[in-house]
Amino acid sequence: MAKVTVIGAGNVGATCANVLAFNKIADTVVMLDVKQGVAEGKAIDMMQTAQTLGFETTVLGVTNDYAATAGSDVVIVTSGIPRKPGMTREELIGTNAGIVKGVVSSCLQYSPQAIFIIISNPMDTMTYLTLKATGLPKNRVIGMGGTLDSSRFKYYLSQALKANPSEIEGIVIGGHGDTTMIPLKRLATYNGIPVSNFLAPDVLDKVVADTMVGGATLTALLGTSAWYAPGAAGAFVAASIINDYKRLIPCCVYLEGEYGQNDICIGVPAIIGRNGVSSIVDINLNEEEKSLFEKSAEAVRKTNDVLKEINAL
Ligand code: 2OP
Repeated sequence: MAKVTVIGAGNVGATCANVLAFNKIADTVVMLDVKQGVAEGKAIDMMQTAQTLGFETTVLGVTNDYAATAGSDVVIVTSGIPRKPGMTREELIGTNAGIVKGVVSSCLQYSPQAIFIIISNPMDTMTYLTLKATGLPKNRVIGMGGTLDSSRFKYYLSQALKANPSEIEGIVIGGHGDTTMIPLKRLATYNGIPVSNFLAPDVLDKVVADTMVGGATLTALLGTSAWYAPGAAGAFVAASIINDYKRLIPCCVYLEGEYGQNDICIGVPAIIGRNGVSSIVDINLNEEEKSLFEKSAEAVRKTNDVLKEINAL
């Protein structure tokens, strides 16, 4: 069993901590927030579900007390501002870069062996910033975007197919942005059968389009960014690390030649186990997918360049 720190006790962080406790993924979860009392209050509220829901995980909430996070195996970073309706994830960079850089360096002081899972947006760039600012080896920094985007892809596929989401397989690669993510419709299956056997091309294209703006659709409905699926996606990646499941997870990792890319963190399928990223699965993309991936990488790189302009790197 393991200790997990969740930085940020907002909607996403609290959901993530709740899933970690409820699913008994960690035996200790520490939530840390900058707002006095918020993490403490949410942690006590969660602990008051332990008996009714039946878990033994200890959830602790603290305000800016990094010492309480000491010895964490996994640190999940959700801090920063969420997007408002009409905003892109990329627009958050100015505020979130400083916050993310500060929290990862504080966490590392107390948990020098931790593996970092980044949820803060713009997620690909915040993952890259974490890696570059800390100098951590590439296996220890993972962005959760592809996990979330793939679960949204499977949701929209299941709706179109009128099927159970657990019977759908499908992955999203590329950046975690409204125009940069690439739902791989060619590889999606319904119980092993390519979805193109069931869905007309225009229906499948609509599933892809809905997936790409899945986060924005929820932001418009909620007035702020979504939290259940993002929080659960972070916990899903953490579970694979803690239990050494070696799950194949689409997530944001550092590429050195894979997919023809270098010096970038972007979504690709990777095997995630006890040491974080154990390998990257370099699948054969067709020409159309390759060109989409190149465009996506170009856009992520443009956002990464802003880190230098604002002196975050
Ligand atoms: C989303 O897509 C929070 O980026 C996250 O909902």
